[in-house]
Amino acid sequence: MKVSKIKGTLDYFGNNIEKYRYIEDTARKISKEFGYEEIQTPVFEATEVFARGVGEGTDIVNKEMYTFLDRSNKSITLRPEGTAGVSRAYVENKMYANQGLTKLFYFEQMFRCERPQAGRYRQFTQFGIEALGTSSAYLDADVIYFGYCFLHRLGIDKVKVKINTLGSSDGRKKYEEALKEYFSLHISDMCEDCKTRLQKNPLRILDCKVDAKNRIMDNAPKIMDYLNEEDQAYFKKVLTCLDALGVKYEVDQKLVRGLDYYNNTVFEFIYDDENSSINNLAILAGGRYNGLAKAFDGPDTQAIGFASGVERLMLVLDELNLFKTSQVKSDIVVINIGEDTKLKALELVSYLRKAGKSVEMDYVSSSLKPQFKLADRLGAPYLIIIGEEEVLNGTFKLKNTTLKTESIYKIEKLNEVFNIEGEKYAYKK
Ligand code: HAM
Repeated sequence: MKVSKIKGTLDYFGNNIEKYRYIEDTARKISKEFGYEEIQTPVFEATEVFARGVGEGTDIVNKEMYTFLDRSNKSITLRPEGTAGVSRAYVENKMYANQGLTKLFYFEQMFRCERPQAGRYRQFTQFGIEALGTSSAYLDADVIYFGYCFLHRLGIDKVKVKINTLGSSDGRKKYEEALKEYFSLHISDMCEDCKTRLQKNPLRILDCKVDAKNRIMDNAPKIMDYLNEEDQAYFKKVLTCLDALGVKYEVDQKLVRGLDYYNNTVFEFIYDDENSSINNLAILAGGRYNGLAKAFDGPDTQAIGFASGVERLMLVLDELNLFKTSQVKSDIVVINIGEDTKLKALELVSYLRKAGKSVEMDYVSSSLKPQFKLADRLGAPYLIIIGEEEVLNGTFKLKNTTLKTESIYKIEKLNEVFNIEGEKYAYKK
């Protein structure tokens, strides 16, 4: 039976898994530097967590969730994003009792039943951060700066930062009403999805891909005209902080984001290279979500965060040729000459591995050509060669493949040659 992977999923191996781990290592390192601690939440949650958290009017909840009934007829959903689960965990584990700011990061798989295309998968990984417990323009800028530094650390600088504010609930409500009024006059000239959005979530009309260039969009009401003074001042302060931190951004009043929980600051980092097929791909996005913990019966919590799509970062690293697989897969290859020395080779390999060295051997062949080929493929800088003569004399031959030098050592010198401490090679002739 021939079976294939599910559409929109990936197998990770070879260069790809190395790239993936490189991004993960970078994410973990920078999270530590910015003072974020790891959280892992379950891969699946009760469906309400996302329906209530992400919002009933969103594409994610309406069209993209992997939802099923478990054996006790409970509706379960594979997480489509991290923020709702983290907020549920924050409330359930009373993390708010610590007072002040709780700073968490995750590096986890998400699942969305989207139409697969370049950079859009059904199983993908997000590196996300969430800072819960404080509202401050300084923190908003700090979170955006974190995203900026993370991409910079990976070497990705072809990035445009888009930023907007959705205001707090009052202003946002007024704005939604104004949008509803405006778009209902023009809706017959807009796409089918926008017709549904008009009823359910008029904000989302603004980031409709189909109607993006429709001139009706240009004259739509602008959020800034509906925000109260406090929200406007808050946004201004975020921008002032970003200026001070040297983060270049573009205020985009059409940026509304596809999740319902946002208020005030929202932002997106997109890949910016007109000549590339992945131009405009969103590689990191987030915003403030002050009401979410309360929706889970927690305290009124101010929070902000972002998530970055790891597979999209992998595409960008490829595009910019920023990641090279390490050429050295093994530091030492032990080569034996003649069938009788195979066991000696295995003993040596085992000893060196126990001492923490990365060593390989050819288990099958005792002729030289395939063994040298293996050493070459693994890019080994050192070869240890042992033949019957070496076994008799209690020696080994060491070849430095970079300097192209060759020396013979007494086996007692093995530890010294490879800087091994605390182990002893019991050499038997
Ligand atoms: P989001 O914009 O839905 O936000 O996703 C964040 C990032 O995840 C996107 O910018 C993109 O890089 C990546 N991503 C999303 N969908 C896919 C997909 N189908 N395939 C590959 N990558 C994808 C959120 O998920 C929010 N929870 C972010 C957040 C955290 N807001 C506050 N805290």
